[in-house]
Amino acid sequence: MAVDISIPRYRENLFSTEAILDPYPHYAALRAAGPAVWLPRQRVFAISRYAECKTVLRDDATFLSGCGVSLNPVANRLGRGTTLNSDAEEHATKRFVLAHRLTPKALREVTETIERFADSVVDTALASNRIDGVDDLATALPLSVVPDLIGWPHDGRAELLRWAGATFDSMGPINRHSVGAAKAAAEMLAFARRIARDRSVLDDSMGSDVFRAADEGMIDKKSCPALMIDYLAPSLDTTIGAISSALYLFAQNPTQWRAVRSDPGLIPRAVNEVVRIESPLRAFSRTAARDTDIGGVKIPGGSRVLVLFASANRDPTEWDEPESFDITRDAARQLGFGWGVHGCAGRTLARLETTSMLRALADRVERIELAGTPKWGVNNIIRRLERLPLELVPADRRRA
Ligand code: HEM
Repeated sequence: MAVDISIPRYRENLFSTEAILDPYPHYAALRAAGPAVWLPRQRVFAISRYAECKTVLRDDATFLSGCGVSLNPVANRLGRGTTLNSDAEEHATKRFVLAHRLTPKALREVTETIERFADSVVDTALASNRIDGVDDLATALPLSVVPDLIGWPHDGRAELLRWAGATFDSMGPINRHSVGAAKAAAEMLAFARRIARDRSVLDDSMGSDVFRAADEGMIDKKSCPALMIDYLAPSLDTTIGAISSALYLFAQNPTQWRAVRSDPGLIPRAVNEVVRIESPLRAFSRTAARDTDIGGVKIPGGSRVLVLFASANRDPTEWDEPESFDITRDAARQLGFGWGVHGCAGRTLARLETTSMLRALADRVERIELAGTPKWGVNNIIRRLERLPLELVPADRRRA
């Protein structure tokens, strides 16, 4: 495919280790370069501004997910059969089979359990002087709640975090990160195939819904393994990322934490603001169904476009002072959960988990203090902390 020479090009590698660890200067350069910028290394058009990202996400008839949303053909082939990688009728049917389990109404039943669990996680953390915000706080809820909802067998849970992180990493361009992750991602798929073969899901779970839909002919039986992973893989690192980034941001911004403590009603806004400023999912791609244009830039049919959610969320033409963490801002329109028909099917649950952790902390913790140097993980698609040494200063419960 010949790319119009007038289209701006960006020759830096958005997927180098350095750019993964510090992506924001790259996003700013892309936004300044134009509404659609050609990345010669990955042979995709990068969409980095808020308005154009939203336009692409809304127009699912032109910008397709069915050819895969990853940046390499192997991951796109392995992802066939998922809700994420489907279009139109097929997408609507697949989403219908499972998304009803994650509506606000359906989640009301589990809300109390999640809140109680968050309370006990924070109580346990408070018993130690020093904790790791990722291992001791952020991981607990995601790693228990979704596997139970999906009905993932207990004997296959030990490797879940490694598998799910690798599944995201393997969705980047072909580079050493995605190649290194391919084996673990394939192990997850092999395990899901075993579950589908043995029907070893827990009763009355999302997994059992999948098998019922296949038996009733609503979905193809071959999709079952992919659908088992469809909701599990995107539920872990993303939510762990949101909770751990929230802890880091509040540790760096003590006045914002004081505001949350004095008015816990701010927590839902804070969750949107965290997902805006440190979007856990960097980007996914689409394929143009026909010749089209984005912000006046000609996009030939068949091209791949990369929707940079994380860049849109820091676009200064959309956000005042996008680099500052401000929990009083209304960030409900942030694109960190996507937008349009493929908008995150698990966002209500992700919000519930993050809100429950922050409520439990606000009730018990006067200050969140950094107790060492945080470490960001290296993953093509996910931005999340790997290590976050913290000290939690307990509140005087008599005053709180
Ligand atoms: C803070 C946490 C989360 C973030 C930031 C996040 C982000 C996203 C984004 C950006 C998309 C859009 C993908 C696209 O347009 O191609 C998406 C889709 C999706 N997410 Fe999430 N997610 C989170 C949590 C979860 C959880 C907890 C679950 C499951 C319980 C989940 C399940 C899904 C599914 C199934 C889709 C595909 C929806 C479709 O294609 O119709 N996510 N997520």
